[in-house]
Amino acid sequence: MQTYDIATIEGDGIGPEVCQSAVSVLTEACGTQRLRFTQLGGGAAHYVKTGAVLPDDTYAACKASHAILHGAAGLPGVTYADGTEVGNDLHLQLRFRLDLFANVRPIRLYSGVQSPLRDWQPGQIDYVIVRENTEGLYASRGGGINLRGEVATDTLVVTRKGVERVARFCFELSRRRQGAPRDGQRRVTVCDKANILRTYAFFRAVCDEVAREYDDVQIDYAYADAITVHMLKKPDFYDVIVAENMFGDIISDLGAGTVGGLGIAASAELGETHGLFQGAHGSAPDIAGQNAASPLATILSGALMLRWLGEQHGDEALRRDADRVEQAVEAVLAAGQTVPRDLGGNASCTEITAAVCRQLAR
Ligand code: IPM
Ligand code: MN
Repeated sequence: MQTYDIATIEGDGIGPEVCQSAVSVLTEACGTQRLRFTQLGGGAAHYVKTGAVLPDDTYAACKASHAILHGAAGLPGVTYADGTEVGNDLHLQLRFRLDLFANVRPIRLYSGVQSPLRDWQPGQIDYVIVRENTEGLYASRGGGINLRGEVATDTLVVTRKGVERVARFCFELSRRRQGAPRDGQRRVTVCDKANILRTYAFFRAVCDEVAREYDDVQIDYAYADAITVHMLKKPDFYDVIVAENMFGDIISDLGAGTVGGLGIAASAELGETHGLFQGAHGSAPDIAGQNAASPLATILSGALMLRWLGEQHGDEALRRDADRVEQAVEAVLAAGQTVPRDLGGNASCTEITAAVCRQLAR
């Protein structure tokens, strides 16, 4: 049985607590021999101490690992001279330097979770937002202009290669799913503003070219403003949504809000050879160290990591373990005895971790 090296960056704020929780759950699911977690430095606190948000040895270990598990990074007030946050740079450097071009954000309503959208039940909201993760407006990170404190610009960058590969990723993902809950139709929805900007018209045109290779998957379009309404009024229509980086960042939080919030929002940031897995919630420094954070987003990101490793390495046992972790989380939520605070309960991070581990041990 192969052992997988997992580069583990706990980071800042609640990062250590939720990361340790995920390590406990994944170890319970897979056993102590399958996953080797190596703790690595990085983040805003590390920058304050050493001047490096992503130390060279951490980056080298991430590059050499089978996968990267990350807690969270960022502390208020720790910013660069240009005003941008230091902590986020850990994350963004890994994305760009490891070319993690597909940021996969499942939007799924779990049993036991009450959606703020009235009358929607588990199973009716189950889609995936795939955010292009290496260009768009984020390509300008660190490159924008601030001229004399009078005018500032950032450039939106859309490349044929960038769109082709993320669009193809989405059509392939749709083929592995069961279609939209509403009608079972395999569907990729292109989220853009092609009506206004040439960059987004180009984004849509390249998606159209890719779509011609997938006549079994329907292509659909929604402007970035309109889709925010559709995600609230017809969430069961969606199967896979593809969006440019900034639009994907925004609509993925909205999507998370419709299924319980960022405390349950998993993410998998995938390239051809590397994957970074973390909850999409950020470091929440206001509740750090209080055992109050929900670890579910990081645990579910860990499940995405097992599934991705299983697919990358043809390891069927790991893919089954991913299913078991998701089923254990759903069983805990459905039982309603150990409910995270962000979902209306009072369970601590360690109590939630123990409850998921008990489910796995059954
Ligand atoms: C996300 C976060 C990141 C982003 C931050 C932490 C760099 O908001 O992963 O959604 O802006 O992409
Ligand atoms: Mn975000």
